[in-house]
Amino acid sequence: MTVQRVRSLLATPPPSDAAGIAVELHGWVRSRRDSKAGLSFIDLNDGSSLQGIQIVAPAELANYQELLRRAHLGASIAVQGRLVASQGRGQSVEVLAERMTIIGDCDLETFPIQKQQTSLEHLRSLPHLRARTRTFQSIMRIRSELALAVHRFFGERNFYYVHTPIISASDCEGAGAMFRVSTLDLAAPPRQPDGAIDWAQDFFGREAWLTVSGQLEGETYACGLGNIYTFGPTFRAENSNTPRHLAEFWMIEPEMAFCDLDGNRALAEEFVRQVVSDACERCPAEIEFLEKQWARGLRQSLEDLCASDFAHLSYDEAIDRLIKSGKRFEFPVSWGVDLQAEHEKFLVEVAMKKPVVITDYPKDIKAFYMRLNDDGRTVAAMDVLVPRMGELIGGAQREDRLEMLLARLQEHGLQADDYAPYLDLRRFGSVPHAGFGLGFERLVCLVSGVQNIRDAIPYPRTPGHCP
Ligand code: 4AD
Ligand code: MG
Repeated sequence: MTVQRVRSLLATPPPSDAAGIAVELHGWVRSRRDSKAGLSFIDLNDGSSLQGIQIVAPAELANYQELLRRAHLGASIAVQGRLVASQGRGQSVEVLAERMTIIGDCDLETFPIQKQQTSLEHLRSLPHLRARTRTFQSIMRIRSELALAVHRFFGERNFYYVHTPIISASDCEGAGAMFRVSTLDLAAPPRQPDGAIDWAQDFFGREAWLTVSGQLEGETYACGLGNIYTFGPTFRAENSNTPRHLAEFWMIEPEMAFCDLDGNRALAEEFVRQVVSDACERCPAEIEFLEKQWARGLRQSLEDLCASDFAHLSYDEAIDRLIKSGKRFEFPVSWGVDLQAEHEKFLVEVAMKKPVVITDYPKDIKAFYMRLNDDGRTVAAMDVLVPRMGELIGGAQREDRLEMLLARLQEHGLQADDYAPYLDLRRFGSVPHAGFGLGFERLVCLVSGVQNIRDAIPYPRTPGHCP
């Protein structure tokens, strides 16, 4: 018999016939209750759904005494029996066991996940076991549904999925926060006559890094395929120990040829609303559970987000609002400063009370590739800020004019030679184009309501932490 999953059994209409339906399932014991009448009730979970299925094990089972000793929290078991309409409350079906075997024992003395609700912090020290908890099963099912929603969204709009390289020779953000990729012997690297390390002898015959963004390569493919997106891991070696930063995270980056900032903003809004509403539709039980455990008001906040247009402010207007608020911020506000988390929080949660798109930032605080506006002091940049997480998306219309781009590279102290392919795009049939990057883990935090980004990815990597 094929082994069935708990999710599909729970969705089966209760059989009218007392004999029920023959089933086999495998899973982990969440709890067991033994009644005086010689029956045991096991809550069995196989990871396919938040709710477990009730297994009713009668004392007549040949190995009943053995089960009493071994089938407890954490142990994995196989059950053959009959799916029947449940006598009890709280479930419509249950499984009457006819045969049960232990697959893997679990030593209760040393099993670290004992209590119903262990702190997220404690669970973070057990990344290999936290997927046994309802909390992490819920978060990771939401993560998986969100990933599928991302592909559906772009697939339905004829965007092509492009795989950009993970090992890269360019610094997209020009910020230098990159992890080096090298096979040189760190203790004795080859050196040039002047003592500098001779990178020409390294694996790629030059320096290379883990990518901080697939954007530049994504742009080259957009300028061939029209509309593309990437969805892959990116790496930042910045020493940011915050609840919003990871050293390894996944980014979604659409890029559209023949598109300006307005088109980019429209896509970003539509994207966020669509994938959030997809996840709400597919994971209602998970969201309800997470709301109860960790995040009050979660569902309502997600419904509000899906129902309303995002606010739009230019950077000038945002600064104006922050100054006029009269609020004392830790980082004082004046035109030209980069917006800090506290400013973003104020704009989203107090000033506008909804997600906010901020556009047209001062050119000096943004990357070299953003298109210079006619005012000569701002660029066609956009950030999308959402409740609780702040910046979810960063994007821009790209500088498509060769001369301007060369000037911007120079202003940023970057070498034109290092960006030769990128400059070629502006030499051969340049087109206006735009795109954005969305941090996938921040999206997972938004939808699951968890506050710390380390809980939105199976194995978080942060400064000093890569167990
Ligand atoms: O704003 P960022 O740095 O933009 C770019 O990388 C552009 N090249 C994107 C593009 O236009 N194609 O990063 C984009 C998003 C941020 O808004 C944030 O959500 C997320 O990526 N992000 C991080 N998420 C987790 N940990 C970090 N260290 C992150 N840095 C950025
Ligand atoms: Mg950004």
